[in-house]
Amino acid sequence: MKKMKQLYEGKAKRVFLTEESSLVIQEFKDDATAFNNKKKGTIAEKGVVNNAISCKLFTLLEEHGIHTHLVEKLSDRDMLCRHLDIIKVEVVVRNIAAGSLVKRYGFAEGTVLENPIVEFYLKDDDLDDPLMNESHAVALGVATLEELAILKNRAEAVNAVLKQFFADRKLKLVDFKLEFGRHDGEILLGDEISPDTCRFWDLETNEKMDKDRFRFDLGGVEDAYSEVQRRVLELD
Ligand code: TMP
Repeated sequence: MKKMKQLYEGKAKRVFLTEESSLVIQEFKDDATAFNNKKKGTIAEKGVVNNAISCKLFTLLEEHGIHTHLVEKLSDRDMLCRHLDIIKVEVVVRNIAAGSLVKRYGFAEGTVLENPIVEFYLKDDDLDDPLMNESHAVALGVATLEELAILKNRAEAVNAVLKQFFADRKLKLVDFKLEFGRHDGEILLGDEISPDTCRFWDLETNEKMDKDRFRFDLGGVEDAYSEVQRRVLELD
């Protein structure tokens, strides 16, 4: 499958049309941004690492009956995907308080949440991806109530699979963001699942092993990403 016209360039990926209209190629870049583009940089080999981790995790989810856009890993940086009509809702699942949950609601960082929190954000960079509830999403026309219920259910199912998978690899899955899209009347999990879109803390030391190292200039960004890759891929 060959890359044809570029359909879209995002902060961390490019998406290309292919000769097959129902398929696209997602190319992972090394560019990194944080705080909605206010901080910019690159993380060496991030594209290769995130493609490898995402392909592995999507395959794992498929094995658990959760349908994703992954067709196959084409190369180091390229993933062949089903072409989605992306739903403009970012679904965040939280197991442990961190990030904006701490800022917005005053939780102490590290508080274990007895029940995972699921949040919806409007996917709109110009508006800084605001937090929203179901009524907002329906009023904005980005998803129906039925679709939102599916997204929440699906996100909880993903969490159950990934939490256990990462615990087995001595990583706490603190929180993560998912995106979904419509394809042939079905809702599929899209985008990526990687240290860019998840928070991982080492089970024993609580060391941050994700994009927070870049966001807050903690150093050792590349090492953290490759250690996550090692634990995800080498412990099969
Ligand atoms: P937050 O605590 O900043 O709201 O982030 C929650 C999770 O979502 C965290 O794992 C990082 C991820 N995330 C993204 O993937 N993209 C984004 O634009 C934001 C704000 C968060």
